[in-house]
Amino acid sequence: MTAIGTLRNTSKDTLRDVLTRLQTEGAALGHFNVSDHVLLKAVVAAAAETRLPVLIGASEGEREFFGARQLAALVKSEREESDLPIFLNADHTHSLAKALEAAKAGFDAVTIDFSALPFEENVARTKEAAQAIKAVNPAILAEGEIGDIGTGSEIKDTAQGGKLSTPEEARQFVEATGIDNLAPAVGNMHGMLKSMVQGKAKKHLDLERIAQIKQAAGVFLTLHGGSGTDDEHFRKAIAAGINIIHINTELRVAWRESLDKSLARDPNEVVPYKILRPVVDSVRQVVSSRLRLFHGQSVSADTVGSVA
Ligand code: G3H
Ligand code: ZN
Repeated sequence: MTAIGTLRNTSKDTLRDVLTRLQTEGAALGHFNVSDHVLLKAVVAAAAETRLPVLIGASEGEREFFGARQLAALVKSEREESDLPIFLNADHTHSLAKALEAAKAGFDAVTIDFSALPFEENVARTKEAAQAIKAVNPAILAEGEIGDIGTGSEIKDTAQGGKLSTPEEARQFVEATGIDNLAPAVGNMHGMLKSMVQGKAKKHLDLERIAQIKQAAGVFLTLHGGSGTDDEHFRKAIAAGINIIHINTELRVAWRESLDKSLARDPNEVVPYKILRPVVDSVRQVVSSRLRLFHGQSVSADTVGSVA
């Protein structure tokens, strides 16, 4: 039997095509954040290895470090060369100016994030940004966020977030803003606790809430804060209506640990590509493993959940 998501993936597909197809197949699109070329190479290598679509993400901070236009140019070139559906999202965008900058640079999607504001203000500013980016590129996907899942893809001492989204506010928010994707708070959290990095604890999601929000919102749903989530909860969340899953901290942990190891291997090594090649490889393994899980393929226990 052919694994789901491995057929008909080409660079000609639009992001909306891919999301629609994956939804019917019961799979989710993996979204992986990058802040440098090593991480970008790793995500592209995982897409090539698995022949599965990927959404590359860069937050405002990551874009500032990489260069929004430079990242867009690299992703375009990877997409053309590989003929794979590789997309680019302007993750956690907190201003109209930054949303417009990303749309003009050629990003396929923007995560418009005014979730820290009161609900009515979040609605007004999300609607304004969604309309503005669609005026630049009508095919761009606008994502809006509600609820509180904390901030920062980092290793944390204590859990963050708290206010879970309700189906009613999801319905109102989507109706009032005209967004294409909704990112709700459903038990997810940005970043990982130390116990999660060590593989001793996992994030668990409110699966019933996801199903209710999906029904009320009627749009694509994005799960932020995916790192450290229990595999079975990922599978059930996709079945309940999640279409895009964001993973960042797991990649950063793999990046840091493999870089430390690579540097320690030979203190006299100064050739960057010799030091960095194992880092690309180690991050690629994490991405491939998550991609396979999101597409209902079997995953070996030695990669997922063992990033520590
Ligand atoms: O937008 C980025 C993600 O939500 C990543 O969250 O670092 O917990 O995987 P994570
Ligand atoms: Zn996020």
